[in-house]
Amino acid sequence: MHSGIVSPKGVWWTPAGKQEKLWVTIAFVWCMVLFAMMPFWHIKGGQNPAGVRTRVDPSAFSDRVDRFNQEFRVGEEKGFPVVAPPPGADVYLMGSMWQWSSVLRLEKGASYMLHLSSADMNHGFSLYPVNLNLQVVPGYDYALKITPNQAGEFRVICNEYCGADHHNMVGRIVVVEPGGKEVSHE
Ligand code: CUA
Repeated sequence: MHSGIVSPKGVWWTPAGKQEKLWVTIAFVWCMVLFAMMPFWHIKGGQNPAGVRTRVDPSAFSDRVDRFNQEFRVGEEKGFPVVAPPPGADVYLMGSMWQWSSVLRLEKGASYMLHLSSADMNHGFSLYPVNLNLQVVPGYDYALKITPNQAGEFRVICNEYCGADHHNMVGRIVVVEPGGKEVSHE
């Protein structure tokens, strides 16, 4: 009689069988493949935005946003400026608790340099329904070249928990056909 405490006498195990060894080998090789995919996909996957982050004073960025909003303002929506910068322009969008600085109106097929920053704490820029997610960090200007390839209306949803009204931090980007016709997806 054996219990779990007293070890059995003699050679009670059998060496690993051929199939067992084969499966261990396959599992190990697959682990190595997945491990190698991490750095490989980081470089080759094409899913990392090629933005440039530079340090910026939050109040200086805020002033820049105000100037941008004044310069290209074409209207107002629920108290927020609707801003339509010309193709090729530098576009400024600032997150703060719990809002985005403007409603952007961009042109399909035109390129812009989008600058993102935060006035207070970490926010997340999540473009819905497109799968684009960026961190919006105070003290850093994240500049990213964008070319909208689809007309319609997009939501900017904060996906970084930022306090009591985080779930209501939703902005809007409208992409119009060249020439300015607004298309609604809703
Ligand atoms: Cu801003 Cu969550």
